[in-house]
Amino acid sequence: MGNFFPRWTNWLPLKLAVAAGFIVFGVSLAVPYYFTPKYTRVGYEPTQPVPFSHKIHAGQLGLDCRYCHSFAEVSSHANVPTNQTCFNCHGPGKGNIKASSPKLEKVIKAAETGKPIEWVKVHKAPDYVYFNHSAHLNRGISCQNCHGQINEMEVVKHAEPQSMGWCLECHRNPEQKLRPLDQITNLNYKPEQLDRSGFYAGLLKKGVKADEIAATIKEGSSAGKLEDLVALAVGKYGEKVTQLEVGSQLKKHWQVQPPENCTACHR
Ligand code: HEC
Ligand code: HEC
Ligand code: HEC
Ligand code: HEC
Ligand code: HEC
Repeated sequence: MGNFFPRWTNWLPLKLAVAAGFIVFGVSLAVPYYFTPKYTRVGYEPTQPVPFSHKIHAGQLGLDCRYCHSFAEVSSHANVPTNQTCFNCHGPGKGNIKASSPKLEKVIKAAETGKPIEWVKVHKAPDYVYFNHSAHLNRGISCQNCHGQINEMEVVKHAEPQSMGWCLECHRNPEQKLRPLDQITNLNYKPEQLDRSGFYAGLLKKGVKADEIAATIKEGSSAGKLEDLVALAVGKYGEKVTQLEVGSQLKKHWQVQPPENCTACHR
């Protein structure tokens, strides 16, 4: 009798074992993907020791985020400001803004004793996750993409899930979020408010070839000068600048490639 099973079946047990391994692995992936804090952490809004309002300071007064969170753009960790930063305006002799307000009592006491105010942490990545602020901000991702509309919050709350699935969603489609670097702390940014001609002129000035920009707008097309690019873009995207338009150009020409491999985030 001939061999009923073809030769490759010798490998079947091994193949099955590998496949089973992948299935277990897949399920363990699915767990963090679907069930992690996504549903529980969003909305977390602890009471802070001082009723500091982002709505007043970042919204109404228009202070740039980096005035207080000065490390966010240059280091892996963002920082909460020290009392000294508050005293630029609320300190005795330096503007004295609301210096006698009961709401500032703890700030003034902290300055006298030299002890920092114990702000309650809102966002916290687990220890096994590697995350770097500057690596995102220097590539055109905004505070708003990850923290929501902070400039409108009286009390900071956890606006985005910051789960693994959420990180990966953006890593797979960064063109949906990328914006010009000078807009990363503008939480009211809207792509349709960008000046199209200025945007393309900026790319040309950085040395990107008109033909490459044209081909990114519409495959196979070419262009000689700025006017051609603008006309091409109007044809493709309409009168107003769109997110996809800006995002695809930045992704292509800045060579943005967010990692999706496990070791990038779990080192
Ligand atoms: C005048 C100083 C100041 C400015 C300007 C400011 N912040 Fe803050 N920020 C703070 C202080 C103080 C805290 C800690 C208390 C709190 O959570 O409200 C904080 C907390 C935060 C947190 C939560 C930190 C955590 O524990 O997870 C985020 C996120 C944040 N700020 C983002 C921003 C963004 C985005 C902007 C710009 C739109 C901004 N901040 C502007 C002072 C400032
Ligand atoms: C650039 C100046 C400036 C800085 C820096 C600043 N503030 Fe203010 N703060 C103001 C102004 C202006 C107001 C609004 C005063 C008003 O309502 O008339 C205010 C209001 C407040 C109030 C509300 C006071 C009340 O009675 O309504 C608190 C609390 C406060 N700030 C805390 C802080 C803390 C904490 C810091 C440091 C993290 C800080 N501020 C940094 C300018 C500043
Ligand atoms: C790509 C997403 C992303 C962007 C963009 C981003 N953050 Fe964060 N932020 C996070 C994550 C995740 C954490 C928690 C990090 C941790 O625990 O190490 C965090 C934490 C913070 C904290 C708390 C730091 C601490 O030690 O208490 C502050 C403050 C903060 N971010 C401010 C900002 C500001 C201001 C900007 C914009 C200039 C910004 N972030 C942009 C994701 C982001
Ligand atoms: C809104 C979009 C967005 C979100 C959300 C986001 N990322 Fe990223 N991430 C990027 C972009 C863009 C880059 C830059 C890629 C490049 O430089 O080519 C990046 C780069 C990285 C890198 C490589 C650079 C480095 O620091 O070594 C790591 C790691 C990373 N992200 C981790 C995370 C983690 C963890 C989260 C979730 C807590 C997260 N990211 C959420 C867009 C995002
Ligand atoms: C872009 C960043 C990023 C990449 C890439 C990534 N992870 Fe994660 N992972 C995270 C974050 C952030 C969390 C924490 C989620 C939370 O706190 O909700 C996490 C959580 C986990 C957990 C969760 C454990 C628990 O207790 O819930 C496991 C397991 C895990 N990741 C495995 C992997 C594997 C395997 C890969 C590769 C296929 C991978 N991760 C790729 C960011 C990433």
